[in-house]
Amino acid sequence: MAKNVLQGKKGIIFGALDQNSIAWKAAERIYDEGGVFTLSNAPVAMRMGKINELGEKCKAVVIPADATSVEDLENLFTKSMETLGGKLDFILHSIGMSPNVRKGKDYGDLNYDWYLKTLDISGVSFHKVMQVAEKKDAMNEWGSILALTYIAAQRTFPDYADMAQAKAVLESVARSYGYRFARLKKVRVNTISQSPTMTTAGSGVPGFDVFFDYSDKMSPLGNASAADCANYIVAMFSDYTRMVTMQNLFHDGGFSNSGITEELVQKLSK
Ligand code: NAI
Repeated sequence: MAKNVLQGKKGIIFGALDQNSIAWKAAERIYDEGGVFTLSNAPVAMRMGKINELGEKCKAVVIPADATSVEDLENLFTKSMETLGGKLDFILHSIGMSPNVRKGKDYGDLNYDWYLKTLDISGVSFHKVMQVAEKKDAMNEWGSILALTYIAAQRTFPDYADMAQAKAVLESVARSYGYRFARLKKVRVNTISQSPTMTTAGSGVPGFDVFFDYSDKMSPLGNASAADCANYIVAMFSDYTRMVTMQNLFHDGGFSNSGITEELVQKLSK
């Protein structure tokens, strides 16, 4: 299926932890399409995950960075431009983590230090990435920057807890920085709102299996997989989407516009 639509494009991919990660699948597809990139993840995740395997497969240098640390990000951008031999055409922010969700905290009993961590890791880090990119003049004209989000930013999904606010921040940052980067460099900034996906971050949400099944039945096309998402990411990094910016793009098999589906009615009436 590869058509080399990313030939000659350079970038940074954040968030590949293991083979299930959306960023992992995206890296494989971007590589197939001729894109070159560096891979980054938090130092602690690099020890747990298998990112070096992916690096070998995609001929990508792996550079650790905690996405909440401006210093780490500055180092990452400098080294990425050195390694890739020039400025960047794409950035994928595929990062999310809530200590409150991970530790099973109820929404009425949140730890506020952790709440701020959730917002920083999963929302504000997107601003940090773009501010560092701007200050280092790291983007080429007509570049494309993406982050992954979830519909809990717009609608309530109780077990998503404080991640809902983090995703609202993330989507808002995409609009505000999207405006700025368009004026500065004709760079586009968007979020992709993805279906529930079986990954480490996804399955960390309590009751994820039931939730995954409900979402699948509520989506006329079914849940979008990580592989489908990787294809969409390729499209968004290609020159075929140059005028799409400041959008929250639903990649969810139709979930976001469905009221009820026959499949769900059948299941519930049993
Ligand atoms: P994943 O667990 O494979 O990826 C999350 C990544 O965030 C990991 O690689 C982790 O190491 C990284 N990360 C955490 N803290 C970090 C930090 N301080 N600095 C740098 N990296 C850090 O899971 P997945 O599902 O691939 O998640 C990717 C993105 O997709 C996240 O933004 C997630 O919220 C979003 N998403 C996931 C859905 C799902 O159901 N899995 C649905 C919709 C959106």
